Parts: sequence; C-alpha cells; structure tokens
Amino acid sequence: MPQITLITGGNRGMGLALAQALAAAGHQVIIGARDLAKGQAAVAQLQQQQLTADVVQLDVTDPVSVQQATATLQQCYPYLTCLINNAGAVFDQRQAPSVIPQAALRADFDINYFGLIDVTQHLLPLLKKAPQAKIINISSMMGSKTEALNPASEVYRASAVGYQSAKAAANMYTVQLAKELQQAHLPITVNAVDPGMVATEFGGASPEQAAARGAQPLAVGIARTLALATSATNDVTATFSNTHGRVGW
Ligand SMILES: NC(=O)c1ccc[n+]([C@@H]2O[C@H](COP(=O)([O-])OP(=O)(O)OC[C@H]3O[C@@H](n4cnc5c(N)ncnc54)[C@H](OP(=O)(O)O)[C@@H]3O)[C@@H](O)[C@H]2O)c1
Repeated sequence: MPQITLITGGNRGMGLALAQALAAAGHQVIIGARDLAKGQAAVAQLQQQQLTADVVQLDVTDPVSVQQATATLQQCYPYLTCLINNAGAVFDQRQAPSVIPQAALRADFDINYFGLIDVTQHLLPLLKKAPQAKIINISSMMGSKTEALNPASEVYRASAVGYQSAKAAANMYTVQLAKELQQAHLPITVNAVDPGMVATEFGGASPEQAAARGAQPLAVGIARTLALATSATNDVTATFSNTHGRVGW
C-alpha cells in the first residue's frame, strides 16, 4: 500500500530535504507550499534527481488556502498516511517578555500553533482513511520548558518568547491530540520532533551563516523525523524526541 505523505513548508529547508528523502524511500510525497511557483520549482529540483513529488498550494495561516488544499487532496488521494507539520517561522528575537508587542506573539502563534492545528484538523478525515497514519509536528528544543530552566542548556540563554511559547503550545496540542486519538482507538500517532539547530534559511540567515554558527547539516536535522515517518511500526505516540532520544517537555 503506497505511503502518501504531505509536508507543509516543503519547498525548501528541512521540508524539501524530507521530501527528497521520503520520495527516495518510496513515499508518494506531496509538497505543501504557500507559493505554488516555489513548490513547483522544488518538484523540478527533485525530478532532476529522478524523484517525483506532487505539489499543493498551502499557506497554513490562510484558512481559505487550507480549505482549498484540503479539497484538492480529498479529490486526488484516497488517504494520507503521514502529515508532517513542518512549516514554521520565528517573528521575534531578543524582545523582553515584559514589552514584546502582541503583534509579534500573534504572528508566531499564527504559523507555529494555529496553522499547524488548522491543517491537522482539516486533514484528519483523510488520515483516518489510511489503515494507519502518523502526524509529525516539527517542534523545537526552544519550546522545551525543561531546557529553558536548565542553566546548562543553550535554550536557557535563548530569547524568542513568542516562537518558544508557540512551539511549547504546539507540543501540548501534540500530547492532547495523541491522547484523544489513542483513547478513540484510532491508529494515528502524533509526535513532536526537535530537529536541533539546522543550517537552513530559518530566521533570515543563509544556510552558510547558520552553519558557521554551529548549525547541523540538513541530513542531521531530518534524521529523527525520517525515522518516525519511515518506521514500519506505528506504536510511538505523544513523544517529543530528537536523534538523541526523548526531549524534556
Ligand atoms: N533551522 C533550525 O535551526 C530549526 C530548529 C528547530 C526547529 N526548526 C523548525 O523546523 C521547521 C522547518 O524549518 P527550516 O529550518 O527548514 O526553515 P526554513 O528554511 O525557513 O523553511 C520554512 C518553510 O516554511 C514555509 N512557510 C513559511 N510560512 C509559511 C506559511 N504561512 N504557510 C506554509 N508554509 C510556510 C517556508 O516557505 P517560503 O519559502 O514560502 O517562506 C519554508 O518552506 C520549522 O517548523 C522550524 O520552526 C528549525
């Protein structure tokens, strides 16, 4: 039975690396891209490597786009086996919690929390049509309260309260949805993944600049997600993990 995987924000960075790796692993990959032309360019890039993928316009912060993408996916695919909620962005840096503008906080939550939930809720019916399915939420160590309180952790010194709060909130959504689906005896797992610091364009730097600051290569950043997405079993749910194991919530 073909594995059919949708990756939001799949046109570049870790999303594109996941598309490439999962297509190579035999998944039927659908790249969600808010800019369709960028999504098509990503598909063309994969084609040069003899890999195939489809593309759907999907801006996770735009309810109309989410609705239209859902309708397209329902028309074109019998089911989804994997949803990777990868689209994410940071809208605040080093703004003190006491004065950070609401607008920045709302922008962080729009994509990293509400967007993730909107896509998930719309696509659950398609995920339920598969014999078993996986929802993988790309989170961040930055959303870990355990790490934020650990003086030995890099996250202790991080300051992006909007982004960090939104990822922490998405982690709680992961737990609660996982429990709901488990209690309903549905074969759909929900997990959050910390990719680590990865050399992408995330936050506005170039991948080279990020690498110079110690960010890991794409292959390292996607490893845990890839392991979950390609695992033949589907018995891990409600976890927050990276390549080293479980991450403290
Ligand atoms: N890089 C890191 O060090 C790091 C660390 C921890 C967690 N993460 C998380 O990893 C995930 C992937 O990040 P990345 O490093 O690959 O970042 P990236 O290179 O900046 O890619 C982000 C992707 O999200 C898309 N996107 C942005 N806004 C969107 C929207 N409203 N709707 C749909 N797609 C949207 C972007 O599309 P456009 O090309 O149109 O902008 C792009 O495809 C994010 O959730 C991020 O929070 C990253």
